[in-house]
Amino acid sequence: MKNIRAIILAAGSGTRMKSKMPKPLHALHSKPILKHLTDTVNNLRVEKIVLVLGHGIEKIKKEFKGFDITHQKRQLGSGDAVNCARSRFRNYNGDILVLYADTPLLKKETLKKLIKTHKSGNFGCTILTARVNDPKNYGRVIRKKNSITKIVEEKDATPDERGINEINIGAYIFKKKTLFPYVNKVKLNAKKREYYLTDVVNILKTANVKIGSFSTKDASEAIGINSRRELMKAHYIIKEKAMKKHMERGVTVIDPVTTQIDPEAVIGKDTIIYPNTIIEKNVTIGEGCKIGPFARIRPGTKIAKRVEIGNFVELVRTKVGENSKIKHMTYLGDAEVGRDVNIGAGTITANYDGKKKHKTIIGDRAFIGVGAILIAPVKVGKGALVGAGSVVTRKKDVPAGGVVAGVPARILGKARYRLR
Ligand code: UD1
Ligand code: CA
Repeated sequence: MKNIRAIILAAGSGTRMKSKMPKPLHALHSKPILKHLTDTVNNLRVEKIVLVLGHGIEKIKKEFKGFDITHQKRQLGSGDAVNCARSRFRNYNGDILVLYADTPLLKKETLKKLIKTHKSGNFGCTILTARVNDPKNYGRVIRKKNSITKIVEEKDATPDERGINEINIGAYIFKKKTLFPYVNKVKLNAKKREYYLTDVVNILKTANVKIGSFSTKDASEAIGINSRRELMKAHYIIKEKAMKKHMERGVTVIDPVTTQIDPEAVIGKDTIIYPNTIIEKNVTIGEGCKIGPFARIRPGTKIAKRVEIGNFVELVRTKVGENSKIKHMTYLGDAEVGRDVNIGAGTITANYDGKKKHKTIIGDRAFIGVGAILIAPVKVGKGALVGAGSVVTRKKDVPAGGVVAGVPARILGKARYRLR
C-alpha cells in the first residue's frame, strides 16, 4: 500500500502480566503476541513498520529483526511513544497507522476497511471501534451527534461514560500532518502520570480536524491483552475459530474442549481427532486418519492418508506413510516411516545423543515389535521385522526383509511373514 506506514507501540512495561518476560514475547498459540500483529500488518504491505520498544527492548529486538526500531527510554504513555517515532517520518507525507502491540487478533480485512474509510472520508484521523458486552478497562468512545468528540479512559470516565459500550480498540490512522503536531499538545494525565495518545482525539476535534471511525462487527478482534486472563481469552478465541475452520473442512473433532489444534495445521477430510490430542504448528495430516486420544503431534510432522495414531504417541519432525499404524505409547523423533508399517506398542526412537539429533528410517511394510528401541542414526529396511524388546543400535541397519531380535539386536535371518 502506497503512502501508508505503520507505528506499533510495544514499549509499555506490561505490569499487569506480572512477568519477567516482556509482554510482546508471551506466546499465543505458538507465536509471540506481537508477531500476530506484525504478520497482519506485513500482509497489508504497508511501506514500512516502525516498532517503538522500551521495556525489554534487548530481548524483543532479537526476535524482531528487520523492523525499524525506535527506543522509548522512559515509559511515559502511548502519546509519548508515538512521539518517539517522529524522526522516522521526516520526509514523508502520507498516512500513518498507529497500532498497539497487545491487540493480536486484529484482522487484515478490518484494517483495510479502516484505511478505506479514512481515505474516502478524507479524515485527519480515523478510529477503529467496537461495541462489546464488557467495556471495562477500555477507553470509551464519546460521540456528539454521531461524530466522535473524545476518548475517555476508564479511570477518568464519569459513571455515565462508563455505561458506554463502544470502545477504542487502539488502532488508528492519521494523516502525518494531523498526527505529530497534535500529539505534541497532549498534556500529562494527572492520575496515571502518562501522556495518553487518546487525548489527541479531543485536541483534533477542538482544532476542527475531521475525525472518522470504523466499527468492526466482530468484537472478538478487539481484545487487548494486559493480563494472563486476557491472554487465556485470546487463546480461546483463536482456538474456537481454528476448530470451526477444521470442522468446516470435513474434520471430526470429538471433543474440542480437551483438544488443541494449531490454527495453521493442515488436516484432510474424514480424519477423526479423538479427545486430549494436541496438534502443534507446522503439521500436516492426510485424509481419513485417526489421531488420538492423548496423542501429541509436534512441529515438522507430516502424516499421509489413512494413518492411525493412538494413545500416548508423540511424533516430532516425523513423516508417516499411508496406512501405517502407530497405536500405543510410542515416541518417534526425526523419523521417516514408510507405508503399511506397523509400529508396536512402546516403540522408542533414541534420536538424540546428547549433542545432535539423528534420523531413523523405517521402510515400507516393516513391522516393529513392542518395546523396541531404535538408536539413531539407523535404518530398518522394507518388510523387515524387529522383534519385541529389541535394541537396534546406531548404524546397525536392518536389511530389507531381515529379522532382528535381542539386546542389542543381532541379525537372525529372513522374514517369513506378510503384513496383509
Ligand atoms: C489503551 C488505550 C485505551 C484502549 C486500549 C485498547 C491509551 C491511553 N488507552 O489502554 O483507550 O481502549 O488500549 O486495548 O492509549 N505503550 C508504549 N509506551 C508507553 C505506554 C504504552 O509503547 O509508555 C504501548 C504498550 O506497549 C501497548 C500500548 O501502548 O502496546 C497501549 O498501552 P496500554 O498500557 O496497554 O494501554 P491500555 O490501558 O490497554
Ligand atoms: Ca493494553
